Amino acid sequence: MSRKATSEEPRTIHINGGRGGPGGGGSHQGGEGGIGQGPRVNFYDITIRQQIAAARSEEQKVLDALPRADAGYRCVDELKSKFLHGTRQELFVELQQWLDGPGLRSVYFLSGGAGLGKSSIAHQLCTRLDNSTDGPRLGASFFFVRGSGDLESAWLFFSTLAHQLALSQPSLRPYIIDAAREYLKWGSRQQMKHTFEGLFRRPFQGTVVTLPRPIVVVIDGLDECKDRDLIPNLLELLLELPTILPAIRLFLTSRPEPHIQWVLTAASVLPSIFYRSLNDTVAQWKGDVRRYLEQTVPKIGLYGDFVRDNPNELKRLIERAAGVFNFARVAVRFLDTYRDHPDPQEPFMLLLSPEGTGLSALDAIRKKPPG
Ligand SMILES: Nc1ncnc2c1ncn2[C@@H]1O[C@H](COP(=O)(O)OP(=O)(O)OP(=O)(O)O)[C@@H](O)[C@H]1O
Ligand SMILES: [Mg+2]
Repeated sequence: MSRKATSEEPRTIHINGGRGGPGGGGSHQGGEGGIGQGPRVNFYDITIRQQIAAARSEEQKVLDALPRADAGYRCVDELKSKFLHGTRQELFVELQQWLDGPGLRSVYFLSGGAGLGKSSIAHQLCTRLDNSTDGPRLGASFFFVRGSGDLESAWLFFSTLAHQLALSQPSLRPYIIDAAREYLKWGSRQQMKHTFEGLFRRPFQGTVVTLPRPIVVVIDGLDECKDRDLIPNLLELLLELPTILPAIRLFLTSRPEPHIQWVLTAASVLPSIFYRSLNDTVAQWKGDVRRYLEQTVPKIGLYGDFVRDNPNELKRLIERAAGVFNFARVAVRFLDTYRDHPDPQEPFMLLLSPEGTGLSALDAIRKKPPG
């Protein structure tokens, strides 16, 4: 029995490639070929393609309806992306080993006092992972920024991660889209526990999703999240992520603040955490800051000849910086503001004298024991 086509069903009109005309009759020489028939287009294929495109656009709309913050590494303050090539080599070797290892420690926690360079390292890691030769290995990134609305809040944290993971990992994308469709029925901005449950635990727990290689989720500046009361819960949920999705590794940074330290150093989570304190390596790795000062100061017009003829001045500055990147950066900025000064010695004196205006405020921060 024939079935009546509905308007939803694809109409099948075949328009395939044209057929050539008949060859000419040949007596002495062959005649001209006949006129070919026009092409035959397969409307069925076109309709299927249209349906696929419509489905894709619906999926994209669902994904875009997830509330999110511009917290990814591409959106952070330029200053955090001023990584000097060749610095932090030991740390990046260690990170590579962590990433290539069996994954017993799925979390790398980089702790360190103000201005030691955590965000710059986190940003550089994102850049390297995203441009990795064996395919993008960055799953998602969230850079908390104090005093910046959504960037200092825990509110959009998990939905932002879900959105980025769906974009970066094609094998996770369908799960996250299906989960988002369901999740969004209950409102776009939901409490953290519901967001985690809806977008991560429910879709992925008990599901075997294979990712070709470990991927990293980078979270910078946990101490900059203003919702201090929510941080323990946020961290507990976050640490659950590598157990739900075993290919995920977490790279976290924070100043050593008690409300973060006590969660990340608790006996129950300690076996899964690789802990690195920049405070402990400041002296050992102070060559990085030396390299930074040696490369930047001579490039500021006024000081090129001066530091070549007075190497001790630069040496004193390097010693004063004592491995603290932010200190070195402010010093460079200070020298730069005097780039047109007639006497290069004077800005150096101002900068280095104990009562000098240049770095005394930063000195005070640097001498303060880490919190
Ligand atoms: N490896 C590096 N190469 C060049 N510049 C760097 C490097 N590391 C840090 N800096 C400079 O030092 C400054 C302070 O670094 P960064 O913001 O990364 O410190 P932080 O540890 O994240 O500080 P905070 O705890 O305040 O967030 C940055 O503005 C950056 O320009
Ligand atoms: Mg930082």
